[in-house]
This record gives sequence, C-alpha cells and structure tokens, in this order.
Amino acid sequence: MKRSIKVAPSILSADFSRLGDEVRAVEREGCDLIHVDVMDGHFVPNLTIGPVVVKHLRRCTRLTLDVHLMIEDPQKFITPFAEAGADQITVHVEACGDALRETLQAIRELGCSPGVSLRPQTSVDILKSHYANCDRILVMTVNPGFGGQAFMPEMLPKIAFIRSQFEGEIEVDGGINAQTAGQVIRAGADVLVAGTAVFGAANRREMIQKLKQIPTEDS
Ligand code: DX5
Ligand code: ZN
Repeated sequence: MKRSIKVAPSILSADFSRLGDEVRAVEREGCDLIHVDVMDGHFVPNLTIGPVVVKHLRRCTRLTLDVHLMIEDPQKFITPFAEAGADQITVHVEACGDALRETLQAIRELGCSPGVSLRPQTSVDILKSHYANCDRILVMTVNPGFGGQAFMPEMLPKIAFIRSQFEGEIEVDGGINAQTAGQVIRAGADVLVAGTAVFGAANRREMIQKLKQIPTEDS
C-alpha cells in the first residue's frame, strides 16, 4: 500500500479571534486533522483552551479533532473532552504515572482513539508495555508549551526507534516545516503537526502539500 502522510495544523498558531474560520479554511486547503493543544499552566508553562472550545470547533469541521493534552492528571479531563467531540485524545506518559494503562483504556471506552506522547528528554523505554494499548505515539520534537520553537534533530533516532517497534501511527509535533518534514518522514513519521508553518504560510494549500511530500532517495 502506498504510504501517505497526514498534516495536522495546530490551532495554537491560528487567529483565535476567528478560530472557526481558520479551521474551515485549513480544512478547505487540504489538511487531514485539526490538532488542538491543551495546556494547563502546570504540566507546561502556558495556558490554552478547554473542552468548550472543542465543543464549538466540533460544529465547524468534519475533520478529526486531535486533542493533545499537556496537562497534569489528564484522567480528570478525558470525559469532558470526549463529550465535547474529540476524536483522538493523546496524553503524556509523564503526566499519567502508574495510571497510563487505565487512562488509555478509558479513552478507548469513551469512543475515542488513544495516543501517548513523550517529552524530548523522556526515554522510549516506558512505551514498550503500552504499544498494544494505543493507536498513536506522538513524539515531541520541541519542549512542549509553545508554538514557533526550533525542531530538535536529535529526536530523529527516537522516531526511527519507535518505528522499528510500533505498528501504529507516529505523529511528530514541534518545529515541523518544509525544511524538517522530509527528515521526520524518512525516520518513520505518519502525521505531521505544524502550527507556525501552516498558519503562517502565505499559501497554506501549497504548504500543506509540500509537507506531505515523501522524500525521494536522493532528496
Ligand atoms: C507545543 C505544541 C505544538 C505546537 C506546534 O507544545 O504541542 O503542537 O503548537 O507548533 P509549531 O508547529 O509552531 O512548532
Ligand atoms: Zn501539540
């Protein structure tokens, strides 16, 4: 089967005063999912949005709502996000402690697709016993908390290692742009989160297509 790459614009870089229009626009312009970054000011030093925004976004798009929870005690919030219309919920290993397995199971029972994310410094060792319980590993390629940071190339071996062990989807998040997309795709990524690159592009349609290009041997 031909490999295909999906692009998930992170709404963190959208104009929040016109969020519905921004999401409708990137849907028209060919993106595949909408990435929603949820931050609580504790797990990461920034605050963003809660379930009410997801509820309103649900009415604006048919695309998969890909909710990335960068919050402490994510177990407390999976039901509100699922009820608001999230399709995929990704939690951080560092925030779940011993409750990771049951959190992933609870996400599944709520009818959503569970994913696991890890910070750049976090070792992949912890993932092994959870591969079977999640659909997606989200590899952070910047320290979580803010859009617009520089991609960390030292994460490429981590992506490749996970690819060698895990058959589900690998999503990458942070500093993905036309220059870095090829490298993460070559390492094994399937889904590219891109905030600044997509919402900041003069021609978003062209940028989305560019990000999806699978590098050829000599590129
Ligand atoms: C960072 C978020 C990312 C971020 C990506 O904590 O998880 O989704 O917004 O933004 P860019 O593409 O600008 O690095
Ligand atoms: Zn994210």
